[in-house]
Amino acid sequence: MQRRYLIAGNWKMNGSLAANAELLTGLLARQNDRSNDFPDIESLVCPPAVYLESVRQRIGDGPILLGAQNLSDQHKAGAYTGEILGAMLAELGCSYVIVGHSERRAYYGEDDATVARKFAAAQAAGLRPILCVGETLEQREGGMTETVLERQLGAVIAACGIGAFARAVVAYEPVWAIGTGRTASPEQAQAAHAYLRGQLAVQDAKIANSTRILYGGSVKADNAAALLCCADVDGGLIGGASLKAAEFLAICAAAQALNKT
Ligand code: 13P
Repeated sequence: MQRRYLIAGNWKMNGSLAANAELLTGLLARQNDRSNDFPDIESLVCPPAVYLESVRQRIGDGPILLGAQNLSDQHKAGAYTGEILGAMLAELGCSYVIVGHSERRAYYGEDDATVARKFAAAQAAGLRPILCVGETLEQREGGMTETVLERQLGAVIAACGIGAFARAVVAYEPVWAIGTGRTASPEQAQAAHAYLRGQLAVQDAKIANSTRILYGGSVKADNAAALLCCADVDGGLIGGASLKAAEFLAICAAAQALNKT
């Protein structure tokens, strides 16, 4: 089974109308000039929700896909002040939504049960969730990495069923590598990805084989190829480097060059 690389930019709480316009001009210049430089991979940008509409207008029907960073756990519209329904994101052209990012788990109290509800809500709205899992430095040093990954992934499998992963992506993001400049080594990433795929395979080998598992945590143009060429690394979830057009395009180019399809 060939898994198409997915290079996803998580802009986090960054940007402005002016900064986004500049970034998108950089991203689109490369793709428009030569039709699509990266025909064998998927590329995705996840701006803050308030900018989804303006980003959508700019990227149009081109090869760059649109995603959101978060959504409500509710399945229907109603009195939930400040929340955003999955259907609203879908209406704005989102095809993916990030759920369970470690920043949401750490700063906004999202536990495994909340993450599982958001995962389900995303799928109910026709969005593909990108489920983030990953251990802290303390957990890694305490030999707890696999236990944490099993718990975080297992909670969603238990709540939503393994079948749900046919329309989902998993992202391994070790917390100690996020925004720190300290990337997991290709060996560390591959070991965690293989473990996660093994957890899926316990339930369904076919789904395990087709589910893309992205790596996130200080991915940059100069370390992307080494991570992406690992057997079980099927793309990247890029934070800081996704805010610079040249860096993000270089990561896309690395994936295109390795192209698994
Ligand atoms: P950095 O690439 O800035 O380390 O962020 C990774 C991340 O959290 C993507 O979701």
